[in-house]
Amino acid sequence: MKRVSLTRYLVEQQREHGHIPPQLRLLIEVVARACKQIAIAVNKGALGELLGSAHSENVQGEVQKKLDVISNEVLIEANEWGGHLAAMASEEMDTIHVVPNRYPQGEYLLLYDPLDGSSNIDVNVSIGTIFSVLRKVGHGRGVSEEDFLQPGKQQAAAGYCVYGPQTTLVLTLGDGVVLFTLDRETGSWVLTESDLRIPEETREFAINASNQRHWAQPVRRYIDECLAGKDGPRAKDFNMRWVGSMVADVHRILSRGGVFLYPWDSREPEKPGKLRLMYEANPMAFLVEQAGGLATDGRQRILDIVPTKLHERVSVVLGSRAEVQRVTELHQAEQ
Ligand code: AHG
Ligand code: MN
Ligand code: MN
Repeated sequence: MKRVSLTRYLVEQQREHGHIPPQLRLLIEVVARACKQIAIAVNKGALGELLGSAHSENVQGEVQKKLDVISNEVLIEANEWGGHLAAMASEEMDTIHVVPNRYPQGEYLLLYDPLDGSSNIDVNVSIGTIFSVLRKVGHGRGVSEEDFLQPGKQQAAAGYCVYGPQTTLVLTLGDGVVLFTLDRETGSWVLTESDLRIPEETREFAINASNQRHWAQPVRRYIDECLAGKDGPRAKDFNMRWVGSMVADVHRILSRGGVFLYPWDSREPEKPGKLRLMYEANPMAFLVEQAGGLATDGRQRILDIVPTKLHERVSVVLGSRAEVQRVTELHQAEQ
């Protein structure tokens, strides 16, 4: 079998289609290298004294784990000197991190969730890193939070890495979705899927059912229909899966279909949802659409939402087309 590395893939894509400018290629390679470093830390676990809390809170009031903080630092250090970025934003930083003056400034903006699924770190369940790439629209050296507030449809690239039984990198540059598996012996990302497609029909849903009593009516109705199985309106039995790391749940859906929901609920009614638009929902929505699926907030396409702040939250429904359409119909019927 011909082994295609990430570098070779990017070089050949550029040669054949010419849509990967050198700064974007460097950015992807740097993020992939940082993910390798994070994978090594994740693997060490207790041996590296890397488990447990960092005894600090992020801007969203969540307690940070040691690996949240370490992964955030790894991504900053890997990315700030290369000349490909103007600034970065992360779940673990209150405000944007502008590339320091001592380094050249590039034309891209990088947003990331350095470690997704933090509650799974200490119990040795799959976790990951999610990233989104935007182009800085304005010219000149100045960069501000407003430069980041672009709808997800303007992403130049998006991807995630899963630290699980295998370490995998899933990537889109707006021309389909590809998957690389880390070969630990050679340290190389090897292309193992060149065109990921989400099956249209599915019988599997993912939702945190412990919040059921707080859900809005359309979500209750959708899950009730699934649970009614063969005898219900959907006339088929459904299975349920919930890892609790969005990155792993979405990866399963990209691999074998399904629908993922993290909807608004009445626990904190003023919040549109739990997940963050710019570095969780947008990159996943881009990947899912590029793989033939759909992603909405129950009503509108996630990629069309114009953000008003960096850490904005959103309801998320994504995955196989037919299921996302059904959830969206139920929301629209309510209006
Ligand atoms: P993070 O670890 O980056 O804060 O994200 C956790 C998210 C997401 O990965 C997952 O789907 C969801 O939180 C699970 O939350 P609950 O266990 O509160 O339902
Ligand atoms: Mn997350
Ligand atoms: Mn996180």
